[in-house]
Amino acid sequence: MGTGDEMQLLRLQVSLLRREISAIIAGTAARLRLRTKEDNFMLQGKKILLGVSGSIAAYKAAECASALTKLGADVHVLMTKNAAEFITPLTFETLTKHRAAMDTFDRNFEYKVGHISLATDADALVIAPASADVIAKLANGIADDMLTTTALACICPKILAPAMNSHMFENPVTQANLERLRDFGWEILEPESGLLACGVSGKGRMPAPERIVEAVVHTAHHSKDMKGLRVLVTAGPTQEDLDPVRYLTNHSTGRMGYALAEMAACRGAEVILISGATDLPRPQYVQIVDIRSADDMFNAVTSVSTSQDIIIKAAAVADFRPATVADNKIKKDSEGPYLSLRMEKTDDILLWLGLHRSLNQTICGFSMETENLVQNSRAKLQKKHVDMIAANSLRTEGAGFGTSTNVLTLITRDREIELPKMSKKEAADRVLDEILAMRKAREEKGEETERVY
Ligand SMILES: Cc1cc2nc3c(=O)[nH]c(=O)nc-3n(C[C@H](O)[C@H](O)[C@H](O)COP(=O)(O)O)c2cc1C
Repeated sequence: MGTGDEMQLLRLQVSLLRREISAIIAGTAARLRLRTKEDNFMLQGKKILLGVSGSIAAYKAAECASALTKLGADVHVLMTKNAAEFITPLTFETLTKHRAAMDTFDRNFEYKVGHISLATDADALVIAPASADVIAKLANGIADDMLTTTALACICPKILAPAMNSHMFENPVTQANLERLRDFGWEILEPESGLLACGVSGKGRMPAPERIVEAVVHTAHHSKDMKGLRVLVTAGPTQEDLDPVRYLTNHSTGRMGYALAEMAACRGAEVILISGATDLPRPQYVQIVDIRSADDMFNAVTSVSTSQDIIIKAAAVADFRPATVADNKIKKDSEGPYLSLRMEKTDDILLWLGLHRSLNQTICGFSMETENLVQNSRAKLQKKHVDMIAANSLRTEGAGFGTSTNVLTLITRDREIELPKMSKKEAADRVLDEILAMRKAREEKGEETERVY
């Protein structure tokens, strides 16, 4: 082949690679439902090491690298030599803008001992996919390449996503190795079951990239300043039955509540999320209780509320429900041109919580207003005997139902904090910051929260 042909072939390869990378970037954002522009605060300034070993699932690591980068992380990829048989270092280098490290004895670097410099200031190490071979090496302290050597030197949290044939995974030696790594403090993400690339059906498929990214965010996003706190969050709409086939509901999607639950869990809290019907992905690190009606919500909340340190009510609970539920479907021609509904009030959960609060419990309600936002929310704060109302207006652009952003005003007994438009996850963090600040101030004053205003 002449030089011209070689150049043409090279150009073709580069253009194919570019297309492959663009597809990864576009596909990742869509599949992971990332609001990357709004949520890139989550890993901003964090250094994440992504280890990739020789598994057929290595292509999914490119999605992880892309998603982690978009969330603001400085991602460094460490590959085993065998991983490079499955995916090229160039793919990771293009996605992360860093050289993918493979060779411990690489002479072509600025003078810093490679594996040590990467290990010392990393915020998290995640190995995805982790082959049976890499797992065995890590469990026994073997450090014979860049990935295993760096892993041994890492003092940051470490996560492992095994991927292999189900017989390899179930083999007692692999299980013993994983157990050993758990004992050494590694977080092991359970592989999924299904048809594997080798044609066998069983457990061994690497968890989807979104689960891996969620695990990294959970570990690295925030300091664990809520460790030891029990937090109850409510989210989503309620559904009030009219007859066996119909119900009344509202536009809540549950996003704000889910963001609060996820962020509290990232900060180390033990979180219970009581959720109305939503189609949101279920967070991995919170205990979810599913409910349908306002009555279900009341029962679920009141059965656990006394043992909670913090309660945040972000659900849109129906204020009224049909007074009777028809036993059979209401037929269109059963009455004249109108159907009259008699509605009854549902229990006021926030008021109940305000009146039955435990010692040192902090309660935050949400209010969605269409007019007089601050005035109505302050009245609610007093009427319900709670500590904070996070108010949002349906009339403000970027706030309210279904959006990925919110514009909140946090109203406490003595303060009003207007937050700018930000992602619901970032707004959730700010609500939690304010709750913690309020608790700290009370603790310093030796004040108990059990009182009626
Ligand atoms: C096509 C193919 C697919 C493989 N897939 C896996 C896999 O999913 N998991 C695994 O543990 N090993 C798998 N292997 C075997 C590993 O690549 C092999 O054990 C290798 O030594 C691992 O090297 P590393 O751990 O240094 O990356 C596969 C091998 C081939 C040829």
